[in-house]
Amino acid sequence: MKIKHFLQFNDLNRSELEIIFDRAKWIKAKFKSYEKHWPLEDRTLVMIFEKASTRTRLSFESGMQQLGGAAIYLNTRDSQLGRGEPVEDAAQVISRMCDIVMIRTFEQEIIERFAENSRVPVINGLTNEYHPCQILADIFTYIEQRGSIQGKTVAWIGDSNNVCNTWLQAAELLDFNVHVSTPKGYEVEVERAGLYGADHFEEFEDPMEAARDADIVTTDVWTSMGFESEKKVRIKDFADWQVDKDMIKQANKDALFMHCLPAHRGEEVTAEVIDGPQSIVWEEAENRLHVQKALLEYLLIGNK
Ligand code: CP
Ligand code: NVA
Repeated sequence: MKIKHFLQFNDLNRSELEIIFDRAKWIKAKFKSYEKHWPLEDRTLVMIFEKASTRTRLSFESGMQQLGGAAIYLNTRDSQLGRGEPVEDAAQVISRMCDIVMIRTFEQEIIERFAENSRVPVINGLTNEYHPCQILADIFTYIEQRGSIQGKTVAWIGDSNNVCNTWLQAAELLDFNVHVSTPKGYEVEVERAGLYGADHFEEFEDPMEAARDADIVTTDVWTSMGFESEKKVRIKDFADWQVDKDMIKQANKDALFMHCLPAHRGEEVTAEVIDGPQSIVWEEAENRLHVQKALLEYLLIGNK
C-alpha cells in the first residue's frame, strides 16, 4: 500500500480535507468532555526539530498521548542528525522504529528526501516553503467560527513566506481567494510556492487595498526562522505592512484576524488588533491540537 505523507497542503484532496475537518470537530468535542479516545494505542510518533517550536511540539506531543500513543522528541543538536548522517539513512532507521514521523526543518527538499526513504507517513511540521498543519488549523478555525471558506477572501499582509505559500495552495484546493500584499522584493515566488497556473490569488501594492472586503486578515512575523541575518533590513522594508485598526476597518465587518504565532506586537500587528475583538488567535492555536489529532488518525488508520 502506498504510504500517505503530508508534506504540502495539496497532498490531501478536497474530500480528504473534509473528512479531517469533520473528524477534528468530533475529536475536539470528545476532548472537551474528557472522553477517552485511544485509536493509536501502541503507536509511536517521532518528532524531529531543526528549528524552535512551542505550538507544534506541544500539539503533536500531547495530541499523540491523548490518542493513546507515544511521542519522541529529537533535535539536531543532540542526535546524529546534526552531525552529518545522510537524511536518507536517518529516514531508513527512524522509520523502522516508529509508526509516523513529523519533521520541522529548513528546505522542503530535506523532508521530501526523508519521505522517499521512509517506511511510515511523514508530516511537514514547517519548512522554509510550507506550513501545512498551520493552515489545516486556520481553515478549521474559520469553518468553526463562520462556516464554509469557499468563495471567501483572505488578506495576507507582509512576507510571502511558508505560511503565505500554504494559504495560496489551500485557496486552489478549497476555492477561496487570497489577496497578498508584500513590500517590493518580497513578492510571492510562484515556482517556490508550487503555484503554476494558480488563479485564486491577487497581488496588491497597497496593503489597505488587499484588506478591503476581506473575510480574514492575517499576517506573520517579518523575519521567519532561518532568515535572522536579514532582520534589520526587513524591519525597515516591512514598516508599512503592519496590521492595525485602520486596516481591519477596510475588511468586512465580521472579518477575523488570524496569526499563526508567535507574534511581535508593534511589528507585523498592533496589540490593539491581536488582543482585540476580531482576533481569534488563541482558538487558532488551540485548534492545532484537534486538527493534527485528526490528521494523525487519518494517516495511520484512514477514515474510521
Ligand atoms: N505556529 C507555530 O507553528 O508555532 P511554533 O513555532 O511555536 O510551533
Ligand atoms: N513564518 C514563521 C512561522 C513560525 C511558526 C517561520 O517560519 O518562522
